[in-house]
Amino acid sequence: MTEANDTLAKLDAAADWVRQRSGRVPVLGIVAGSGLGALAGLVEEATRIPYAQIPHALSPTVIGHAGELVLGKLSGLDVAVLSGRVHGYEGHPTEDVVFNVRLVARLGAKRFLVTNAAGGVDPWLMPGMLCRIVDHLNLTGKNPLTGPNVAALGPRFPDMSKPYAPALGAVLERAAERAGVTLHAGVYAGLTGPSYETPAEIRMLRVLGANLVGMSTVHEVIALNHMGVEVTGLSCVTNHAAGVSSAPLDHAEVAQIADEAGPKLLALVRAFAGLLAEKSN
Ligand code: HPA
Repeated sequence: MTEANDTLAKLDAAADWVRQRSGRVPVLGIVAGSGLGALAGLVEEATRIPYAQIPHALSPTVIGHAGELVLGKLSGLDVAVLSGRVHGYEGHPTEDVVFNVRLVARLGAKRFLVTNAAGGVDPWLMPGMLCRIVDHLNLTGKNPLTGPNVAALGPRFPDMSKPYAPALGAVLERAAERAGVTLHAGVYAGLTGPSYETPAEIRMLRVLGANLVGMSTVHEVIALNHMGVEVTGLSCVTNHAAGVSSAPLDHAEVAQIADEAGPKLLALVRAFAGLLAEKSN
């Protein structure tokens, strides 16, 4: 297990290294999930840094995940986009999975938008719909804060009563109106994967109060809450979850639907950054 000092030293080494490549202090961090990498293409005056070059950062191995940090401007706001993420199912310790979001928070981002591709647990959730994540169920059996607490990052027992900040969620809702995009809302269940769920597991998730299901996000949101970062979340529904329809689940299809929802998502994120830029001026 990594010592607390180790975690901090690695983060600071990575942050110093990034600062030498771009002096930009991001106000907003954005995680671009499966098939949503086009988000990184929106960034202007961009400095693109492959994760592979950043000291101590891991690179994703999944198709559809680019693996680069993009610093620049979006709708006039200083942003850092994490294009592609590392997942626990790739075999990495949870603490390493959250390294990149912690890095962006260390660079200065006090707010974060996390996006993902998700299965619709409720039958009314159709492929291509966008959903604001209002809360989550961490069903991975893991927590990125396990081990010695890094007190310089946050408290031992962080409050999780507002994991997705209502005020920031309200900005996302307004951005959806402005962009003319329909935005639904739901609770996201994070499971380990990499196998998709069984129909019985999806029925269980429904009973537990989940509307969406995926294999990411929850650990990042815990690590960001620990650091006092305000988070909002956005799921692109890429498929009916197992058993909701009789079709088998396929990663290529998930990536394709995420791709097709791209323009809606981009318009929404652009409007969201624009509203935050207006607020900060
Ligand atoms: N289950 C888990 N993860 C997912 C799904 C799903 O149905 N769709 C996209 N990511």
